[in-house]
Amino acid sequence: MKMMPLERRGISNSRLALGCMGFGGSWSAEDAYTDDHVKQAEMAVDAALSIGITFYDHADIYTRGKAESVFGQVLKRQPQLREQIVIQSKVGIQLEDGALPARFNFSKEHILPSVDGILSRLGTEYIDILLLHRPDPLMEPDEIAEAFSQLKLSGKVRNFGVSNMSPGQIRFLQRALPDPIVVNQIEMSLLRHDWIDHGIHVNQKAGLNDSFPEGLMEFMQMEDIQIQAWGPLAQGRFSGRVHEKATEAELKTAALVKQLAEENDTTPESIVLAWLMKHPALVQPVIGTVNPERIIACRDAVRQSELMTRDQWYSLLISAREANKP
Ligand SMILES: NC(=O)c1ccc[n+]([C@@H]2O[C@H](COP(=O)([O-])OP(=O)(O)OC[C@H]3O[C@@H](n4cnc5c(N)ncnc54)[C@H](OP(=O)(O)O)[C@@H]3O)[C@@H](O)[C@H]2O)c1
Repeated sequence: MKMMPLERRGISNSRLALGCMGFGGSWSAEDAYTDDHVKQAEMAVDAALSIGITFYDHADIYTRGKAESVFGQVLKRQPQLREQIVIQSKVGIQLEDGALPARFNFSKEHILPSVDGILSRLGTEYIDILLLHRPDPLMEPDEIAEAFSQLKLSGKVRNFGVSNMSPGQIRFLQRALPDPIVVNQIEMSLLRHDWIDHGIHVNQKAGLNDSFPEGLMEFMQMEDIQIQAWGPLAQGRFSGRVHEKATEAELKTAALVKQLAEENDTTPESIVLAWLMKHPALVQPVIGTVNPERIIACRDAVRQSELMTRDQWYSLLISAREANKP
């Protein structure tokens, strides 16, 4: 069986990851997390482990740090978990704060204390992978390299990656960084399928409005960078959540997903994820649900990605394209 890029680098991994953005309740600074949030997170982690998910995705900003704190409480209750799982977190976004707007910050002065905050909230001495969350136009690769070297040397971070970056930005950073960039996390789903369309529409007018960076999929495969998909369930749009403003075409795509699920004796969630996972790059979906039943509903995604035919894959793409027309 083909190995995923992270596995080839000797980093333990699972085919799916659990995104923890929904842990910890609201994003309001005024609300504290409660024991119920810890219980909810514990149930989500138990469900994820039961289907083989050992990879957990965080960011320092998720629910303003509460997501990591809640996860820290889960680890406190089950300390043996720490060595069994991979924890990834992200830095580099500063949320709106008083008069200041939301902004990016890849300065060493921001990165180093941010990582200390992550470790303290999670109650762990290290994280397996640290991502730079979203490109900071003011980034200085040499300064980031200094921060990363310090983090590696102190044992606080074992590997580094990025999120929402183009090949140019990754190359720009990599030439200064002492360690390889091992992950790029981007939005990919039946809703955001421009990662496929960009490649198909070379030299066609239809591709002109495409915001996806040129050659990103090919670049990441050539450089052996793990592609992680955020938003992979398209927030449920094609797997049971009927959106208020859902168009006829969107409902048709959801119906096609349902039909394929029924024909294959599986769930719509597994079909939606299988569509991403059939790609030869071995995309790792980062599912963002806190609902244990929905996590379990993703259980069959790997098998379905192996069973999905080319015709089914293209039928889903064409249907989703219609559904997402502006
Ligand atoms: N790198 C980045 O910039 C970035 C940005 C955003 C997110 N992320 C990461 O990616 C993860 C996943 O992202 P995501 O949460 O946007 O994507 P997602 O996995 O596509 O969607 C999960 C969300 O959709 C809801 N949902 C799914 N199916 C549903 C259904 N059938 N009915 C009702 N609700 C349904 C879930 O609610 P329930 O919880 O109730 O199931 C949850 O709120 C996050 O947790 C985070 O780790 C990264």
